[in-house]
Amino acid sequence: MARTRTKTVYECSECGSTAPRWEGQCRRCDAWNTLKEVTKTLSTGSNSRVVSSSGIGNASGSPAVLISEISSEASARIPFGDPELDRVFGGGAVPGSVTLLAGDPGIGKSTLILQASASVADQGASVLYSTGEESGAQVKMRAERLGVGSGDLYLQSTNKLEDVLAEAERVKPSLMVVDSIQTVTSAASDSLAGTPSQIQACAGYLTEFAKKNSVPVIVTGHVTKDGGIAGPKLLEHAVDVVMHLGGESTSGLRLLQGSKNRYGATNELGVFEMRSDGLKGVGDPSKAFLAHRRSSAPGSAIASLVEGTRSITVEVQALTSPSNLPTPRRVATGIETSRLHLIIAVLARRLRVPVSDQDVIVNIPGGLRVSETAIDLPIALAIVSSLRDTPLNEGVAAAAEIGLGGELRPVQQGERRARESARLGLTTLMLGRQPDKEAHAREKSAGALHCDMLSDAISEAMAGESDKRSW
Ligand code: TYD
Ligand code: MG
Repeated sequence: MARTRTKTVYECSECGSTAPRWEGQCRRCDAWNTLKEVTKTLSTGSNSRVVSSSGIGNASGSPAVLISEISSEASARIPFGDPELDRVFGGGAVPGSVTLLAGDPGIGKSTLILQASASVADQGASVLYSTGEESGAQVKMRAERLGVGSGDLYLQSTNKLEDVLAEAERVKPSLMVVDSIQTVTSAASDSLAGTPSQIQACAGYLTEFAKKNSVPVIVTGHVTKDGGIAGPKLLEHAVDVVMHLGGESTSGLRLLQGSKNRYGATNELGVFEMRSDGLKGVGDPSKAFLAHRRSSAPGSAIASLVEGTRSITVEVQALTSPSNLPTPRRVATGIETSRLHLIIAVLARRLRVPVSDQDVIVNIPGGLRVSETAIDLPIALAIVSSLRDTPLNEGVAAAAEIGLGGELRPVQQGERRARESARLGLTTLMLGRQPDKEAHAREKSAGALHCDMLSDAISEAMAGESDKRSW
């Protein structure tokens, strides 16, 4: 007979590792003051020692199969019926997959997922929407506001994972939604809702259910600003797909970007607008991103990017001010800080731009996170424009990676970027040196201007002004 016994351990709320006694700093992730007391139930006795009878040599439960005989899950994707969502997900939800939709509280996760659920249900597939955040009536009200909810959409308001799984067994949905992972608890774990052990336990059961029944499961998760409750961070490793819903609350733009996808690319971007009747796809994202730009403002540049299958043009803002700190501040929003450090180092060392003693703040308005290195040149131009307190020439956009020698490297799809810039009424797209003669000619005829060096690009973008400067 198995007996149970409880034991008190200390669990890190950042990484989920446990320690036998309280310590000020977690030994695994080095976070301070994150160890919390939890009680674990252990089963002891003879049963817990029994090893599975299917030892080595015996037939296992999961035999190896020829790759040619395995059917591809991706071909059976369940489309959401929303062009933005479907593009970001690579055509729809993959049966058996678990997706985490992460984002700040209030950004619109529940809205987006309810719209998607209703849209799937409208196509004739059944959907189970379980929420621990709101009552059934609240979700119904939201659905009425969104003007959705006529199809095979089942609502369940519960905090218990076991209830969710039981209803899923009964309803046999084609899509399952759990809003949010922080509010459901499993009886199998003694910890409180939202703690790493609960999140891990619930994610484990949901994953098992998804794989066994070939149902796509989408869970939402909050990310806190200080990363204090690290639920979604832990979850990212456990799930197949991670999507971030972000944006700036002021602009109303909401951006959906994947950071992990076991079934497709993560570089697609979904652009939505939060309206009174829900999230609506934005048809012309470039126009939306540039809507609030003042072209006469110093420190503002335009970047031409390619996100997945679309070319998108965004504003880059920089602000420099003399620093009174021994190590001036570098603040980057929307790009990696390491990228900003590299650009500042090149400006200071190769071009003798007096930027070393300046605080530098760089921002991509609209909440976009850019990983493409094509953003380098627009950032450098924005910084120089701010330092000189002079706007860049009107109609200039840029896309090039900056090398450590101050050279400009070409980016992919220059011609496409040039056409998109022209469509938006921009006159010149500055690109790096293009060694391919044919590509060079095509890009040029589409309105591109090639510059070998960062210094050339600065002179071109600030024509007239730069001649007066020593740098
Ligand atoms: P919500 O989806 O509840 O956010 P999350 O689940 O990420 O916490 O949306 C929150 C905000 O969106 C809320 O402040 C109200 C606003 N909103 C609209 O502007 N229009 C709408 O149609 C809906 C449903 C919400
Ligand atoms: Mg919500």
